[in-house]
Amino acid sequence: MKNPYPGLFVVLEGIDGSGKSTLANNLYLALKKMGRDCLLTFEPTRGKWGSVLRQSFLAPKRLTPTEELELFRRDRQEHLEKVIIPALKEGRIVLCDRYFFSTAAYQGARGLDPDRILFECRQKALEPDLCLLLKLDPEEALLRIKHGRGEKANNFEQLDYLKKVALIYQKIKDGCIGLDATLPTKRLTEEALEHVIHALNARN
Ligand code: TYD
Repeated sequence: MKNPYPGLFVVLEGIDGSGKSTLANNLYLALKKMGRDCLLTFEPTRGKWGSVLRQSFLAPKRLTPTEELELFRRDRQEHLEKVIIPALKEGRIVLCDRYFFSTAAYQGARGLDPDRILFECRQKALEPDLCLLLKLDPEEALLRIKHGRGEKANNFEQLDYLKKVALIYQKIKDGCIGLDATLPTKRLTEEALEHVIHALNARN
């Protein structure tokens, strides 16, 4: 479903380590500075279903792809109803760190059909007005995770898996704008901001 509300719905996507959350934050600050009313949010959420998912990331045994798919679907539904749609109704800009493209890419990388996931998501969930996809080599992304964040890669972040995720993201042409994640932070924020402003103008 296309966004029928006055607010602008922007989604940020990319593999783990691509700098997506940093960009989301910088974009949020830049928009606030311009006097725009903005909401920064993310999936999986910290709600009922999102919490189950987050717990499962730490467990030694992963949920099945179908179980994950169902939990992400429920989490998204709740997120839309309780957070995203109310903010869009108020005319705010919603910046969402991960959305249904993540489901296609990550659960697709576990063997489910990404096209089918996208098709179903597009039918049931609200379509974003703009999707910015950070592009980064999976090897580089893992290095950033290991060195930059000083963390061990979790079970979403193994190289083979991330390579599959990246490949599916690459194939999602419809509706996503690719951004070079190796650009300096400031430049990347400026580029992303240009796209958001363009989308805002296109709506008016
Ligand atoms: P995220 O919170 O973005 O990770 P972090 O902030 O630690 O970088 O997302 C956690 C993981 O959830 C991420 O590895 C991707 C995965 N994920 C899916 O597998 N499917 C989905 O639909 C979403 C939204 C996320």
